[in-house]
Amino acid sequence: MTQTLPSAAVLGARAFAALEGLNRFTDEPGKLTRLYLSPAHRQAAEWTLGAMEVAGLAAHIDAAGSVQGRREGPVPGGACVMIGSHIDTVKDGGRFDGNLGVVAGILVAQALRDAGIVLPFALEVIAFGDEETVRFPTSFSTSAALVGRYDEGWFSARDSEGVILRDALVGFGGDPDGIPALARKPGSIKAYLEIHIEQGPVLEAENEPVGIVTAINAQKRARVRITGEAGHAGTVPMALRKDALTAGAEMALALEAIASAHENAVGTVGVFRPDPGATNVVPGALDFTIDFRAPKNETLASMDRAIGERFAAIAARRGVGLTMTPYSHDNATPMAQALQDALAAGIARTGSNLSARRLPSGAGHDAMIMARLCPAAMLFVRNEKGISHSPLENMTEADAGVAIRVLLETVLELARQDS
Ligand code: GLV
Ligand code: MN
Ligand code: MN
Repeated sequence: MTQTLPSAAVLGARAFAALEGLNRFTDEPGKLTRLYLSPAHRQAAEWTLGAMEVAGLAAHIDAAGSVQGRREGPVPGGACVMIGSHIDTVKDGGRFDGNLGVVAGILVAQALRDAGIVLPFALEVIAFGDEETVRFPTSFSTSAALVGRYDEGWFSARDSEGVILRDALVGFGGDPDGIPALARKPGSIKAYLEIHIEQGPVLEAENEPVGIVTAINAQKRARVRITGEAGHAGTVPMALRKDALTAGAEMALALEAIASAHENAVGTVGVFRPDPGATNVVPGALDFTIDFRAPKNETLASMDRAIGERFAAIAARRGVGLTMTPYSHDNATPMAQALQDALAAGIARTGSNLSARRLPSGAGHDAMIMARLCPAAMLFVRNEKGISHSPLENMTEADAGVAIRVLLETVLELARQDS
């Protein structure tokens, strides 16, 4: 059966060619920036829809802007194995984060169709659109829609230009009223599988092309607004200032110290916007974001308490106002043990002598959301120097091919287990 399947080398070449096609679509020429519901996202979604159709899937762009493709199994409307990832990117991001997982799903569907393999279940491929949550303060809204956990408060979330998500979704061609109907029923997805670039240095250090994810770390994000007093940079004495930016700077350093003091934790201030932002004006207000993560829920809760206390103390001492608005909180999410084992079996079925290295994920993924509805698992691909969320993000064509071949064998392993 498997002799007719493409080799890892062929799959790697196909993946890189497909990524070149998909990554033409960007909101910023010269960079890869593809934010949720932007014109580049729409173009990329249409490209993805076309690629799914070429791979023999019935495809459509759904109410939330995800691209869904499906090939029926023996029972029309029956349970499926779903392969997916996301096609939105951070600003000036890398070529593989998300995009590779979508292309991998399409190539698996195509290879199975070309080999004439009939699966005992339906096969679906999905390209989520809001994994990075860079444009709006949501939390994996497109996968949340699929698992029936869409927060309708997200409709009024604003981007940095003041556009609300509901209007952006309608402008994209989506349908806010159609979102509840996207929720899949428990039992309708037998397995969710996602290939993703590691976004870290572990596999490279251990000379392993792929690794099986054991769990995704807990994470929380909030928007913070500091209100001080704008004033003349030349005339307001230091002792009389209520400088919103320096208060925020002290909070950013406090976050850094708190994260460093907790086991395997991280904390990041990724957005920092003083208002009015002029050379000769004491900043009267500041907006910034915090993102902090840890392998254990208890660690995250302890960081959360420490951040709240330290930020409040800094604001009180400096006489500035402080508003913290959390917008995303995800518990640590173990990946399904049986699917981790199926991926290991997939690795073994390739006939290679790769070890099935298991490792946790510090980055968040749609798999974390999907795990609330169905068994979910991820396969990481070795990442050059561990660099991600950067245009320097890189992997080899050979490693991409190995990962897709493993995914193909894993789907066949699930078919074997099913029949
Ligand atoms: C998604 O890329 C994340 O921020 O973990
Ligand atoms: Mn990603
Ligand atoms: Mn990312």
